[in-house]
Amino acid sequence: MKVVSTVAEAYALVDHWRRGSMRIGLVPTMGALHEGHYSLVRRSVSECDLTVATIFVNPTQFGPHEDFGKYPRTLDEDLEGLKSAGAALVFTPSQSALYPEGFSTFIEPPSIAAILEGVHRPGHFRGVATIVTKLFQILPANVAYFGLKDYQQLVVIRRVVEDLNLPILIQPCETVRERDGLAMSSRNRYLSELERLAALSLHRALNVAEKMVTRGCCVVAEIEQAMEKELYASGANHIDYARLVDAETLATMTSLTQPCVALIAAFVGSTRLIDNRLMPY
Ligand code: PAJ
Repeated sequence: MKVVSTVAEAYALVDHWRRGSMRIGLVPTMGALHEGHYSLVRRSVSECDLTVATIFVNPTQFGPHEDFGKYPRTLDEDLEGLKSAGAALVFTPSQSALYPEGFSTFIEPPSIAAILEGVHRPGHFRGVATIVTKLFQILPANVAYFGLKDYQQLVVIRRVVEDLNLPILIQPCETVRERDGLAMSSRNRYLSELERLAALSLHRALNVAEKMVTRGCCVVAEIEQAMEKELYASGANHIDYARLVDAETLATMTSLTQPCVALIAAFVGSTRLIDNRLMPY
């Protein structure tokens, strides 16, 4: 496995492989890797000739009061894990390599970036859209793997790729969970033992929503209220949103007449967690 940190080296390698008709898979990450990340890498390894992973804690997608400074950085472990998972190349750029002095061009994200996460994390998807587009340029892969865990991120990236005619396929991948249902996340490391229990509130609220839908409830407001109730009852201390929206467009719905997804963002202690589930239709 090769590890490179300059844009020139990274581009030269991937460009060379592409010219050799290799199918290249790309897995962008911010490091602090867990099984969720490795499942993306393994999927790419199984579907592509060569897999490229990136590790970069992207400053432009963090708000001024968010956790950029304390985001976990575990490079040595991450590289070990990526090697075992079968990555051929890891790109670990410095901040100045991607945002040199004078950097000032951003991707204006699509309108679906303004709702849900966009309301609570203004500027977040502008940063995501920009870094992902840059990575697609630097590492011209055939296909990029993204987790459904970050549902809105996936919808935003798909839209950017379509709107800007970027020549790359976006492959969604299932959310990997702990045995008790907690969605794996680099931010789970912030949780104390008690908070780890309360973190299950998101999974529980999604169970409640799914059960209601299965039993035939189709009034969105009722289901959203039930999710909020369960979140607070099982230990969340603040809810940013607990919504049921159109699975494709993330548009608001009042009754369940098309495929929809339940999306939650809530705080457990000072840790902000997100999770989601596609509802049976
Ligand atoms: P990060 O949070 O490190 O996630 C990297 C990729 O792993 C994303 O596609 C995310 O959806 C996926 N992922 C995270 N947890 C997962 C889980 N439990 N199961 C399956 N996939 C999971 O998302 C980002 O980084 C950044 O925004 C990035 C796209 C790299 C741009 O900076």
